[in-house]
Amino acid sequence: MQTIHEPSAIGRRCESLRREGKTIGLVPTMGAFHEGHLSLMRRARAENDVVIVSIFVNPIQFARGEDFESYPRDLQGDLAQAERAEVDLVFTPSAEEIYPDGFQTYVDVTEITKGLCGASRPEHFRGVTTIVTKLFNLIRAHRAYFGQKDYQQSAAVRRLVADLNLDLEIVLLPTVREADGLAISSRNVRLAPEERQAACVLYTSLRLAEERVGSGERDAKTILDEMRSVIEAEPLAHLDYVALCDPETLKPLDRIEDPMLAVLAVRFGKTRLIDNLLLTLP
Ligand code: PAJ
Repeated sequence: MQTIHEPSAIGRRCESLRREGKTIGLVPTMGAFHEGHLSLMRRARAENDVVIVSIFVNPIQFARGEDFESYPRDLQGDLAQAERAEVDLVFTPSAEEIYPDGFQTYVDVTEITKGLCGASRPEHFRGVTTIVTKLFNLIRAHRAYFGQKDYQQSAAVRRLVADLNLDLEIVLLPTVREADGLAISSRNVRLAPEERQAACVLYTSLRLAEERVGSGERDAKTILDEMRSVIEAEPLAHLDYVALCDPETLKPLDRIEDPMLAVLAVRFGKTRLIDNLLLTLP
């Protein structure tokens, strides 16, 4: 496995791989690998000649006061895990090389990013779509792999690929969960033991929505009220938002449609967790 730090060097390497006719699969990450990341690497391994993983804690997607400084970092551990997952190349640029002095160009997906997480993190998605566009331009992968866990992020990325006529396939993979249903996240380690236990309310609430839709409930407000009650019954949980929305536009729905995305964000102390479930009618 090779590690490359310089953007210009990864650009040259990928250009020669393409000339050789190799297919390239890219897994963009911020490191601190867990099973969610590894599931993306495994799928990329199965579908491409060359697998490239980027590890970059992207400063411009964190607002002031968010956890950029304290975001979990473990480069040595990550490299060992990537090697075991048979990744061919890891790209670990520095912030100075990605955003040199004078940097001032951003990619903004305007509508999909307004609601849900965008409401409380107004510049977050602009940071994500900008770094992802830069990675796509440098690496020119045939396929890029994203997790459903960060659904709004993946919807924004799909939109940018369509809107900017980028020539790559976005592959969306299911959320990997702990045994009690909690979606695996780098931030789960921040939860105190009693918060960790309480955190399973996110999945409980999503499953309740799935069950209600399955048993014929067709009023969105009724389902949302029930989802809210599950969260509010847990004293350690503070609801940020809960929504039922169109899976492509992420616009809220009044009536149940097929398919539909149930999505929520909940805070436990300083830790904010997100989760979602795609609901289909029986
Ligand atoms: P990061 O949080 O490291 O996540 C990298 C990828 O792993 C994302 O596509 C995310 O959706 C996926 N992922 C995280 N937890 C998962 C889980 N439990 N199951 C399945 N997939 C999971 O998301 C980012 O980094 C950044 O915003 C990035 C896209 C790299 C841009 O900086």
